[in-house]
Amino acid sequence: MALRLSSRRISAAFRAPRGNCCFVRFASIAAAALKDSSLPQDVKDSIARETSLPTPDPPSSSKTAGLVNQQLPYMVPTYVRPPPMFEKGEGCYMWDVENRRYLDFTAGIAVNALGHCDEGVAQVIAEQARQLMHTSNLYHNPLTGLLSKQLIQLTHATGGFASASRAFICNSGSEANEAAIKFARKVGKSVSPDKPKYEFVSFHNSFHGRTMGSLSATPNPKYQKPFAPMVPGFKYGTFNDVDSINDLVTEETCGVIVEPIQGEGGVNVASPEFLIALRKRCTEVGAVLIYDEIQCGLGRTGTFWAHAGYPQGCHPDMVTTAKALGNGFPIGATIVNDFVCDHIKTGDHGTTFGGNPLGSRVASYILGRLSSPEILDSIPAKEAVFRKHFESLQRRFPGQIKEIRGRGLILGLQLVTDPTPIVTAARERGLLVITCGTNTLRFVPPLVISEAEIEEGMAILADAMESVLDKGEAVQGTKGQQEMQ
Ligand SMILES: Cc1ncc(COP(=O)(O)O)c(C=O)c1O
Repeated sequence: MALRLSSRRISAAFRAPRGNCCFVRFASIAAAALKDSSLPQDVKDSIARETSLPTPDPPSSSKTAGLVNQQLPYMVPTYVRPPPMFEKGEGCYMWDVENRRYLDFTAGIAVNALGHCDEGVAQVIAEQARQLMHTSNLYHNPLTGLLSKQLIQLTHATGGFASASRAFICNSGSEANEAAIKFARKVGKSVSPDKPKYEFVSFHNSFHGRTMGSLSATPNPKYQKPFAPMVPGFKYGTFNDVDSINDLVTEETCGVIVEPIQGEGGVNVASPEFLIALRKRCTEVGAVLIYDEIQCGLGRTGTFWAHAGYPQGCHPDMVTTAKALGNGFPIGATIVNDFVCDHIKTGDHGTTFGGNPLGSRVASYILGRLSSPEILDSIPAKEAVFRKHFESLQRRFPGQIKEIRGRGLILGLQLVTDPTPIVTAARERGLLVITCGTNTLRFVPPLVISEAEIEEGMAILADAMESVLDKGEAVQGTKGQQEMQ
């Protein structure tokens, strides 16, 4: 312990100030000085690591580890987290408790579309917090209805599903899907009172949430098995398999849920043929089609809704949204058409917090920004910068990168091996990235990211990949909380 502490002190003495352009020169002076020292080799190695990386993971003797160790015993251990602890954000950057800066390509899993601590969002929260935060849904307020109207009008104005007519506001993605599942069941019972029509179809590699209904639609054994049995009546198909649809979706089916771009499952893009065939079959059997746009919607693909980029012939009956809708404030929504809404009666569903004045005001403000040409029109150029670097990485590491997937700023780099050591190496160089699916690096940065910031992050990623794939640097992989295996 004493040795570890002294090695930290020595590292600190060698370390140039953060962000200093002399960092590299400092690191090489430190390396030269260490080479001639008589310190034990493991101490030399540890100092070399800490002085050569801009944001090495805080060691067990750090202030960060001290805080983590004090708090962890009080938290239900549902998450695995890497060593840094974050306490500040601005734009596309976050700072840890040791005041070290990281560029964030994760945006809190596609949540912080307007970046961290956006001034406009902060101002709206502060204003509304002083006016009226919560009334319960027992009373009218002027903001829940305004948000609902805005969701419908924006859906129409931006080429989303033309039949959208009403919205139910809730608190999260899982709850938005839970409402959609309940609404589909209610439609099934109403249109088919005598024959069973309660089956629900979803697809392998999808992610729809962790509540019992949304979990039942998420056919990942790792998530389902500990809580089995699931809600009865759920069936699972193969994503993009057009031929299987007729057998999968039958007269007993009340609803089908699908992500136009599977996020957690590996950034898999639905083919137009698949969505058209699903739409056609749902109409044939009287089932409702639900698009889960919780991760891929709200401008991330360059259109307000991802499904607006598909032919009208595959438009849904419901769309679920959350994540970027609050930019960090917990809020979600289920948007429905009259075919669905005509079967929902007072008392069928409800929530205490959902659509309260504070959340609704924040989401209204965010919708205005995310639907603006300033954001939407900027996405293709930003995607192009990412793709240029992905292609360059493909040339640099032939055989290591199998595929580039996605659309807009929901992109995936399919590797042939476990990318978690690259996630760690990137973090220790000041870049946050996450994984998804099988061996896939996922890129879901804030939509306000600049092209210069993408360049900066991709240079860090290239360096991280070089250290892991070329130099074989031994880096401990970072397990993601939502990795699929
Ligand atoms: C596509 C999709 N649906 C649903 C959810 C669940 O949302 P939440 O975590 O807000 O409950 C997620 C979360 O990652 C998601 O990506």
